[in-house]
Amino acid sequence: MDASTIPVAEWSLSAQTELRFEVEDTDPVTLKLLDGTAEIFGTELPPSQQFSFADGAKVAVFTWHGCRVQLRGRPLHPYVSTDTPMVAYLNAHAALEKMRESVERARDLVGPRVVIVGSKDVGKTTLCRILLGYATRWGRQPVYVDLDCGQNSISVPGCVAALPVDRPADVEEGTFALRAPLVFHYGSASPSENSDLYLALISELARVVRRRFGTFAECRASGCVVNTCGWIDGFGFKAIVHAVMEFDANVVLVLDQERLFSQLKTSLGSSVQVVLLPKSGGVVSRSRSFRNDARMAAVRKYFYGTAKESLYPHSFNVGFDDVLVFKIGQPRVPDSCLPLDAKKDDSATKVVSVALDMDLLHCVCGLSLASGPSEDLARTNVAGFVVVTDVSMEKRTLTLLSPAAHPLPRNCLLISDIRFVDMK
Ligand SMILES: Nc1ncnc2c1ncn2[C@@H]1O[C@H](COP(=O)(O)OP(=O)(O)OP(=O)(O)O)[C@@H](O)[C@H]1O
Ligand SMILES: [Mg+2]
Repeated sequence: MDASTIPVAEWSLSAQTELRFEVEDTDPVTLKLLDGTAEIFGTELPPSQQFSFADGAKVAVFTWHGCRVQLRGRPLHPYVSTDTPMVAYLNAHAALEKMRESVERARDLVGPRVVIVGSKDVGKTTLCRILLGYATRWGRQPVYVDLDCGQNSISVPGCVAALPVDRPADVEEGTFALRAPLVFHYGSASPSENSDLYLALISELARVVRRRFGTFAECRASGCVVNTCGWIDGFGFKAIVHAVMEFDANVVLVLDQERLFSQLKTSLGSSVQVVLLPKSGGVVSRSRSFRNDARMAAVRKYFYGTAKESLYPHSFNVGFDDVLVFKIGQPRVPDSCLPLDAKKDDSATKVVSVALDMDLLHCVCGLSLASGPSEDLARTNVAGFVVVTDVSMEKRTLTLLSPAAHPLPRNCLLISDIRFVDMK
């Protein structure tokens, strides 16, 4: 677009209002804070700096005291809302901060362990970002845990992960700096695909986060914020309760859903504070195809970075004899068909060897940190991810797209049902 034809608009926001807009244009929309103070989902905007939002972005610029901002480009449906739940969210932060203060000096107590729940598109991930942003602005270092294997905000889809956080999320990308993330490969975008493995990985993440609290005093007092996926019925509810138990959560924030709030209050007992918070009217529902596209965009970003910060992945061949490829979990067989000594839940975390053939094409694979298949591959975290971009049965090689150069640091690959076609 010719710079002179780019529309420019100025917006004046009074205290406690927010400017909402979406981007559905190949050209980005840029935002600049002209005066006053403002924040985007918990991250304060520095004055006069330009921020660029690409196609698909859904943004809210909130101000506590009033501000003026400039938008350049063609935002979709920009409007100012005076009705936001930000005061309720700030109060939630203040209550968590009180808990942190009260455990700060006690060596053996842990700060708030917060689980955020609600159905699809109620703003769970956004609330995590806001609460973590506020906590770090108060000098805290909480652990962010994302149990959403469909739209994971720490690593690629198909995993669950934890990340120590010490600064607010990036304004444009909405992600936190990746300082020593802990990532477990789950292998699917849906918790129902292998529900027992999903529960086992929640337990595993909780165990490591607890260990971290034991080692790092600043994390211990700051506690953790656990994001969940939008499945709240049936197994979804069971997974929420499991997460609350395993993370020993003392606060559950329920967004929008009175029924879920009441169910959790009944199930969790009085040792857990269950709090109902309003959903923001700005939260945008996303279609199934938007979510699929977002998954592919997340994998692309993992390998290629962003327009602002490009990454240059490597592509190399590995021989069939140089890697071992596994799938975690095998289809369940009826109990009556199991050998007498077989444990009922064996199948979920069973490591099954996978044949190297064309079926692996485009498969996103986790690179296990296990030094060999004798270790517990299901419960070992991954170093990162690769994509199989070619399979040569003739040469007996796999071509891998990898963030790091050849050779692979380990040789056990875990397949997922997430496929990424590398068009670059
Ligand atoms: N106040 C707001 N104004 C405008 N957009 C918003 C606002 N709050 C959230 N959004 C946008 O709405 C979308 C959905 O929000 P979010 O991802 O937090 O929901 P979620 O409950 O985590 O969804 P899911 O069920 O997929 O996990 C996001 O793109 C987010 O940027
Ligand atoms: Mg979410």
